[in-house]
Amino acid sequence: MRDNPIGVFDSGIGGLTVVKAVRSMLPAENIVYLGDTARLPYGTKSVDAIIEFSLENARFLISRGAKFIVIACYSSTSVALDIVRRHVDVPVIGVIDPGVVKALEVTRNGRIGVIGTSLTIFSGAYEKAFRKHGAKCEVLGKACPLFVSLVEEGWLEHPATELVAREYLQPLQEDGIDTLLLGCTHFPLLMPVFRKLMGDIHFVDASQELGNALGNALKAADVERSGRDGALSIYLTDLSMNFKEIGERFLGEPMTDFSRVTLKGL
Ligand code: DGL
Repeated sequence: MRDNPIGVFDSGIGGLTVVKAVRSMLPAENIVYLGDTARLPYGTKSVDAIIEFSLENARFLISRGAKFIVIACYSSTSVALDIVRRHVDVPVIGVIDPGVVKALEVTRNGRIGVIGTSLTIFSGAYEKAFRKHGAKCEVLGKACPLFVSLVEEGWLEHPATELVAREYLQPLQEDGIDTLLLGCTHFPLLMPVFRKLMGDIHFVDASQELGNALGNALKAADVERSGRDGALSIYLTDLSMNFKEIGERFLGEPMTDFSRVTLKGL
């Protein structure tokens, strides 16, 4: 069981930001990654569709021997985490809870901004998670769908990105947030712009926190692997245009082992 991989899925290759964090924190673990590039984006689709896709993704990872499943996609975590948990018999971790815990730890004034896709923000998943942790704080959500395309275009510090970011973030700034939760796989790459516009506030990228939570859960289940030579296999439902160049931007290392897969019948 220790050598079995951790299964990670996302709507596309943005979830490789989460894989990057997990690989740096748990270098021994083998990882099998599924990016549903053929059906991307998830952040503008219906709840029913994302639940169906998420279940298929989880079943695929289990068919590859996953001992744990990480839902790296915030949109999918928002609407499908509980349902995936009920339908599979391996532990499932999402990206929302770890970020919420960290945000509560660092906020001083209890005014927390959350940015994500439209599905993530309008699902109310973050408000629900803050309530679950008994938080007495004000959660201010803002859907920022254009950031996803800007990151995929590689416009990380481009004037157009700054203009869009100013439009999205200004209301949160005016509301006096002291903490901004990055609720989307793509957003950590925009940190330089966020820092420039928002100044000296706390930024929470849940992938680091998720790495910690996953490490503890593997230990508690007594299935953690030791060493430093974890392998990474990447499966994509479509080898879309520029996927390698964009994927390596998220992953921070060369993508060597990748292939296309179809999920029909899972
Ligand atoms: N991976 C998605 C998320 O984190 C962003 C891209 C999409 O909309 O599919 O919400």
